[in-house]
Amino acid sequence: MASTNKFKQMAKLCGLGFGVFSAICIYKEDTQFYKKFIMPAVHLLDPEQAHRFSVMINKYRLLPKSKYSDPQSLKVQAFGRIFSNPVGIAAGYDKNAEAILGLKDMGFGFVEIGSVTPLPQEGNEKPRVFRLKNDKAVINRYGFNSDGHEKVLQRIYELRESNFDGIIGINLGKNKTSPNPIGDYVKGIIRFGPVADYIVINISSPNTPGLRNMQGKKELHDLLVPVVEAVRKVPNRPALLLKLAPDLSYEERKDVAEVISKKECRVDGLIVSNTTISRPDTLNCKEEAKQTGGLSGKPLKELSTEMVADMYKLTKGMPIIGVGGISSGQDAYEKIKAGATVVQIYTALVYEGPTLVSEIKKELVSLLAKDGYKTIGEAVGKSSSS
Ligand SMILES: Cc1cc2nc3c(=O)[nH]c(=O)nc-3n(C[C@H](O)[C@H](O)[C@H](O)COP(=O)(O)O)c2cc1C
Repeated sequence: MASTNKFKQMAKLCGLGFGVFSAICIYKEDTQFYKKFIMPAVHLLDPEQAHRFSVMINKYRLLPKSKYSDPQSLKVQAFGRIFSNPVGIAAGYDKNAEAILGLKDMGFGFVEIGSVTPLPQEGNEKPRVFRLKNDKAVINRYGFNSDGHEKVLQRIYELRESNFDGIIGINLGKNKTSPNPIGDYVKGIIRFGPVADYIVINISSPNTPGLRNMQGKKELHDLLVPVVEAVRKVPNRPALLLKLAPDLSYEERKDVAEVISKKECRVDGLIVSNTTISRPDTLNCKEEAKQTGGLSGKPLKELSTEMVADMYKLTKGMPIIGVGGISSGQDAYEKIKAGATVVQIYTALVYEGPTLVSEIKKELVSLLAKDGYKTIGEAVGKSSSS
């Protein structure tokens, strides 16, 4: 009996000790602790539950604010805005504008919300998110699960009324069964335009039937004419960006560049890229790779960087948000040198945890200094122009 009590006491003490140790590690933003303990523990949940859990952590700002303060060299100007650093959270993480403050605390230089659809919709049947652990990748087929314009707009208005001045992008999608897809995007511009720093026309998600066809030459022209017109009428005109799929052929990339060079279709920038429907032979997780949906993370890195370089050249230097497989400062730097002005991450957070944001920023600072650049702007497109 006495020995059982002793054992219980010991177990309690160990538990308490580990609790204190964890709190200290979290407070100290210990990257290895997140990698070795927290993220594996979070991965005991199924991927969608883990996603929800993480959004809730950020919604209630349960993590300490990042102590890394952005140096001058990370400051960058794009789309008529000044970013305190070039690392943003990509669309799909905070689909419904619940976690913006927590994401800012994590050190992101900007937050992209969405994709948001006009009417609320459930998205595809579950399960619809899969980890490819040994590839540091994810396949998702969420299919635009969204709280809809009304609710998301309300949350952003409340935030703006509290004087939040961070950079917010709104990524627009269309309802699955919408009879008027172009109207869905125009509606989004009219509603979100006044509170957004930039608006994204997302026609590259692989999980809404027919959506990606809107990247075709004629379809894109027909979409962009009313979209550009609508944006021009918005007070505090936000920047207009187009998000592209990495699976476009070189000819299709050329077509996109040609369409957006026309005055009536002129966007302010591109997001390159969304997830890929391709499955590289090099994937380790062969079974999981059979899931339908968009692949993101490490296996997407080269494909998206090549596309950044292509689009940078084809558009003669249009501002680009580079995204796809970034999990280090080096990866971010490669996207910047290929032509991205700012970058975004998503999947790497799933594997590395929240301290990754500061790690990327620190590494970027030293890579810039090593190459003799004083600012991010000086490095943009440097590998594309050589
Ligand atoms: C679970 C998940 C959901 C996503 N949802 C969206 C979305 O709703 N809209 C969108 O434009 N991109 C979405 N994306 C794509 C990301 O924004 C990003 O373009 C892509 O994941 C590549 O970046 P990464 O390799 O850093 O994850 C999603 C990605 C993931 C992993």
